[in-house]
Amino acid sequence: MIGVSTKILGRKIIYFQEIDSTNEYAKRIAMEEEEGTLIIADVQRKGHGRRSREWASPRGGIWMSVILKPDVHPRHLIKIVFVGAVAVVEALEALGVEARIKWPNDILVNGKKICGILAEGKYSESKVDYIILGVGLNINVDKDALPPEATSLKEILGVELPLMDVFKVLIGKLEHWYGIFKRQEHDILFNRWRSHAILNRKVRILSEEGEFEGIAWDVDEDGALIVETPDGKMEKVIYGDVSLRYA
Ligand code: ATP
Ligand code: BTN
Repeated sequence: MIGVSTKILGRKIIYFQEIDSTNEYAKRIAMEEEEGTLIIADVQRKGHGRRSREWASPRGGIWMSVILKPDVHPRHLIKIVFVGAVAVVEALEALGVEARIKWPNDILVNGKKICGILAEGKYSESKVDYIILGVGLNINVDKDALPPEATSLKEILGVELPLMDVFKVLIGKLEHWYGIFKRQEHDILFNRWRSHAILNRKVRILSEEGEFEGIAWDVDEDGALIVETPDGKMEKVIYGDVSLRYA
């Protein structure tokens, strides 16, 4: 039994020793579940990121997805990934680890990825059925079980941490920032996000339509990245099928 002190997130927790993907499971049950139901697994066989990219999920990490049903216009759902990012950064901060956000959904420590966030939802033009917030956080995972561009808390701190302690801090932070999102206090969310994000940096934006370089200055009120191209034009990059690389 996992005991948490949050009111909404994790009021029901479904735990698996092993599963395909907590996001996929969450999507299968989301319509029947109440907001806050959380799925967590020791191991994911088919953990994934965006565009079905493989997400390494061996024992020792937190692989979890929470079902959210916010009563907001669907255009705000893009901000859920920012809720996740700020919550993870603050949870890591509480553990004494300084992390930075790589727009839009990656959390880095010492330039390496320690956590990925994946929000996937079902909604129409005017109504949200659900949004799944998936978080994968490398805790007691050995380096050789991860891709080379990844890191874990164990690698950073040199010790293993009780997964449950990290989970409780994380879910508390998620509940706090989800509350801010639901109250539509978007400025508070984005300001906090900005203070941890890697901005004012030269970036390369890759998409199926091509690629371009520029300087990433900020995000707008919808979470789009504002990139100034070499000819001085401000491009808005929307979180979707684009990848960002630091140039
Ligand atoms: P992009 O790399 O295109 O900017 P992204 O960072 O959002 O996008 P995804 O497209 O969702 O990443 O794909 C997942 C990426 O995360 C893969 O490139 C993979 O190398 C990396 N990865 C996989 N498992 C882990 C893990 N456990 N920890 C850190 N990184 C991982
Ligand atoms: C990213 O690519 O950066 C996002 C990775 C998200 C991984 C998490 S682990 C829990 C949940 N289940 C999945 O299959 N993906 C997310």
